[in-house]
Amino acid sequence: MDKLIIEGGHQLSGSLKASGAKNSALPVLASSLLLEGKLTLSNIPHLKDVTTMIEVLGSMGANITLDEEMNLEIDTSNLTNQIARYELVKTMRASVLVLGPLLAKFGKAEVALPGGCAIGSRPVNLHLDCMKKLGAEVVTEGGYIKAKADKGLKGTEILFDTISVTGTENAIMAAVLAEGTTIIKNAAREPEVNDLINCLNEMGAQIDGEGSKEITIQGVKELKPTSYEIMPDRIETATYLTAVTMTGGDISIKNSMPKTLDSVLDKLKAAGAKIKIEKDSIHLKMDGSIKPVDISTAPYPLFPTDMQAQFISLNTVADGRSSVVETIFENRFMHVQELIRMGGNISLSGNTAIIKGKKGSLHSAPVMATDLRASASLVLAGLVARGETKIDRIYHIDRGYERIEEKLNSLGANIERVTG
Ligand code: UD1
Repeated sequence: MDKLIIEGGHQLSGSLKASGAKNSALPVLASSLLLEGKLTLSNIPHLKDVTTMIEVLGSMGANITLDEEMNLEIDTSNLTNQIARYELVKTMRASVLVLGPLLAKFGKAEVALPGGCAIGSRPVNLHLDCMKKLGAEVVTEGGYIKAKADKGLKGTEILFDTISVTGTENAIMAAVLAEGTTIIKNAAREPEVNDLINCLNEMGAQIDGEGSKEITIQGVKELKPTSYEIMPDRIETATYLTAVTMTGGDISIKNSMPKTLDSVLDKLKAAGAKIKIEKDSIHLKMDGSIKPVDISTAPYPLFPTDMQAQFISLNTVADGRSSVVETIFENRFMHVQELIRMGGNISLSGNTAIIKGKKGSLHSAPVMATDLRASASLVLAGLVARGETKIDRIYHIDRGYERIEEKLNSLGANIERVTG
């Protein structure tokens, strides 16, 4: 199993190009099931989760070609089955994104139940409720969601009582080929949902309300082949900006989408970073001590849960006390125990972490990555810890960060990947 060995204490400076967004690439790949012919995608990130989605589609008989620049052509016209197998779904919960498009296009779908994961039980009830509302018969048996809509799906009104990102995406993909109009209320407003809507509209879907809580979908008969460029990954960008805020130095991130990062940039400024935006570039400069920042996670446009772990790391080396509240997922504090092993002064009470930060408080320790964003927080901690930090089970980070050690090393970090 790969490990990362990080020598702490180096300031970072330089420039990076943001990769394509994982959380946009996954639903957009699933949307290829809806059209007749080819979907051509560029700016696809080179990540384990993306490979898993490609495997899910490939195992159903999709025809996929990928060049060295990660430009991808996918054709699902000759599918041989509509089954997302457990062996693949268990490694990536977002595989459930094929449910909506399969039902819409083929009137049937079998998707393995994702099961538990490191950041809580993460149920799929909202996804199933949407499909039922659109007229599908849905049962769960033998560890699989089995859904069918013999007479096709019918437009309806869907109200989410909890905001769900992939739930909203699944509902949109199911509704684009349904008969009549679907209105989704209390929809997720994440930029990745908008990216999916833009791609579907390019294919000929009729979706209005992008970026708002109410999305209206006028069903169409079919979608046509198109080419689409995946948006930049805002969480990757935010993670590198946080790294440089912790180590000191300066960074420019090109090809990013600054307007999707307002809540995070505000907190980095509050921590003492100087930030300048120029079109699609973000420049950050940090010198002096880090001010502690209070965080409470919430759906977009508020502070993303996917940056919570990284901000706990930042607060451990800030100058004073802070609180971080996690409101989206239960049990998303697995990184806290590992950060405590590295010298972080953190106590947990329910969904709140209280951090007593101190400059230079982190030191090396062998630690273990437990999920994707938790791994990122340990890498950031390793960058400022005294000595050499060894992070085990680093495969979690490869699910969501493209060449993380290469990118950080290009800024002056000293990170080595060891295999075995
Ligand atoms: C997506 C993102 C993930 C991010 C999360 C929250 C992708 C591929 N993943 O995950 O990176 O951390 O949004 O921004 O885009 N819930 C239910 N029932 C359901 C579905 C969700 O109760 O059927 C609950 C969840 O347990 C959670 C909340 O709804 O408490 C929000 O989760 P959701 O937005 O659905 O997360 P994902 O879409 O899985």
